[in-house]
Amino acid sequence: MRRINPQRVSDTICKEAGRTRPDRRCPGRPPTVSRCIDTDFRQEMAGDVLSGLTGSVKSIPCKYLYDAYGSRLFDRICTLTEYYPTRTEIAILEGNASRIMDFFSGRDGSLVEIGSGSDLKIRSLLRGLSGQGAGQVLYVPVDISETSLLRSAHRLLDDFPWLSIQALVADFTRHIDRLPEGRKLIAFFGGTFGNFTHEQGVALLQGFARIMGGHDRMLLGIDMLKPAGIIEAAYNDRSGVTAEFNRNILKHVNRRLSADFRPDDFEHLAFFNPDREQVEMHLKARSRVRAYIAEVGLSVCLEPEETILTEISRKFSRARATACFDEAGLVPVRWFTDADAWYSLVELAARA
Ligand code: AVI
Repeated sequence: MRRINPQRVSDTICKEAGRTRPDRRCPGRPPTVSRCIDTDFRQEMAGDVLSGLTGSVKSIPCKYLYDAYGSRLFDRICTLTEYYPTRTEIAILEGNASRIMDFFSGRDGSLVEIGSGSDLKIRSLLRGLSGQGAGQVLYVPVDISETSLLRSAHRLLDDFPWLSIQALVADFTRHIDRLPEGRKLIAFFGGTFGNFTHEQGVALLQGFARIMGGHDRMLLGIDMLKPAGIIEAAYNDRSGVTAEFNRNILKHVNRRLSADFRPDDFEHLAFFNPDREQVEMHLKARSRVRAYIAEVGLSVCLEPEETILTEISRKFSRARATACFDEAGLVPVRWFTDADAWYSLVELAARA
């Protein structure tokens, strides 16, 4: 498959005064967009929901938590007191941005952001670029939502007018080979890696390792093991936003696949499973539940207390994470963490 050809940024010296540093780039270039997917997920969703709800343990893949409303709820989750990962990751980024962005010291390259969503985290990194010594940076945000890519790109250009942006509408589990050629720093924030099983996660990282050259780096956000009470509070917030986020997956299935689930028939259930070192988020039937999913012709029946698994969120020890990286052909170069070691940003290189 064809990869993005990173467009060269003009070397024009910008003369206007008062520009945000680095100041030797040409301002005002609109973002460009490449598309790898169309936006009708109905068929894919139908297949996933059919196999998930007919398996021995009923489940719906967590990616279907994120319709437009679900994405807004997730943004709210990120601001909740109990939900520590987002603010911890941002604090680590802010404290280490210039060290991380040394990657671009005197060298050009692409800054790829996988599953970019909001632009909060990339802003922290961009602020770490040193004005004088930095090479030219092409920012390549990758997300399945073109709308959110463009919204963030325009917001970023308001504050970093020198930045070149080449957005990629893609599913990072399928389109890794469409990332730009040449030197790149691939940022994969948010702990999303933890939402994959061990096997899926290793396969995903193997894909990145395959396309990484010797000078490329990946910056991977992972949530670390910590006392279960802290973890469980983060997924059971008092204001009920996570519960609403969880139940919204059924509204999404109803809308896309003409199903008739009643979300209020289900209780939000999220707990830390110490054997698997992961949070498991479920929807638990309050009584016997029957639903029909017209698009796939499936009748679903749940006994009282039976659950649908909607998400896992793995929490890592350094040893467990390093074993995953090793299996995927990646080597940790630097670990950036907070004082409590609750969260880590790991800089990874492909094994030679
Ligand atoms: C996106 N992902 C890393 C979040 C997590 O913590 O696993 C999703 C989430 N689910 C409930 N709260 C947040």
